[in-house]
Amino acid sequence: MTDACVYLVGTGPGDPELLTVKALRLLQNSDVVVYDRLVTDEILQLIPAGVSRIFVGKQSGKHTVPQDEINSLLVKLAESKRTIVRLKGGDPFIFGRGSEEAVYLARHHVAFEVVPGITAASACSSYAGIPLTHRGLAHGVQIITGHCQGDLPLDFDWRSLADADKTIVVYMGVANISFIVDRLIQAGLAETTPAAAIENGTSRKQRRLLTTLARLPQETRQAGLSAPVLFVIGKVVQLADELEWFTPGEIEALQPAVAFEKERHG
Ligand SMILES: C[S@@+](CC[C@H](N)C(=O)[O-])C[C@H]1O[C@@H](n2cnc3c(N)ncnc32)[C@H](O)[C@@H]1O
Repeated sequence: MTDACVYLVGTGPGDPELLTVKALRLLQNSDVVVYDRLVTDEILQLIPAGVSRIFVGKQSGKHTVPQDEINSLLVKLAESKRTIVRLKGGDPFIFGRGSEEAVYLARHHVAFEVVPGITAASACSSYAGIPLTHRGLAHGVQIITGHCQGDLPLDFDWRSLADADKTIVVYMGVANISFIVDRLIQAGLAETTPAAAIENGTSRKQRRLLTTLARLPQETRQAGLSAPVLFVIGKVVQLADELEWFTPGEIEALQPAVAFEKERHG
């Protein structure tokens, strides 16, 4: 084994000030940084000049670098570099495939460390004024993916998910939001349950849409929201107006959601 170490580092979902002190220290002392699409430009700017950067995300019109290739790349880099930072949006161990990379590294006897990041569920909902739990409104949170590998059908226990006393957070759900909403309603969750969609959460481009469960798919389409989008479903969403505190920087990027919110509030 070499003295190389691969650091699987979470950046949080966008706002660079949500980086941990440890993540920043590692970025500034790295020999090479391997990153994907969700890592924002503001965060990439924190990498010192002269440090190699390798992009392994999806470029428009092209396919994502296959996970096998990323795994091999990390092992290969460990042969010649000492501090390899594998940067991931949010938290590496929440829908980030960080664990797949860690398993591969462990099996190839490459040392690794995991640096947790603030996951989208936590950060995006906070920046949208939505607490995931709140006494009397939600005593738990259920986090699910809205997309399965190989586009397999979402085969969940919808009855247990449709719990009005828990908040549901859906990652990667844009393509399947109609299906998810239909299943939740069929399983007993009220159509009027408050629901939110947050696009580009915690960034200057953040857009927030507030609606009800039944209207969520249509409103998402109408507002033209596209990934990354986080859906939050549950009574806690009713606090979003009262707890709104974050003003994203780019007013023009806010327009469709602002228009929608005006329409909703009259
Ligand atoms: C592949 S998952 C990665 C999740 C990441 N590891 C985390 O912990 O947040 C990508 C999904 O995370 C959610 N997401 C990540 N960053 C986001 C952001 N800034 N705004 C809204 N959703 C975000 C979206 O649902 C997106 O489709």
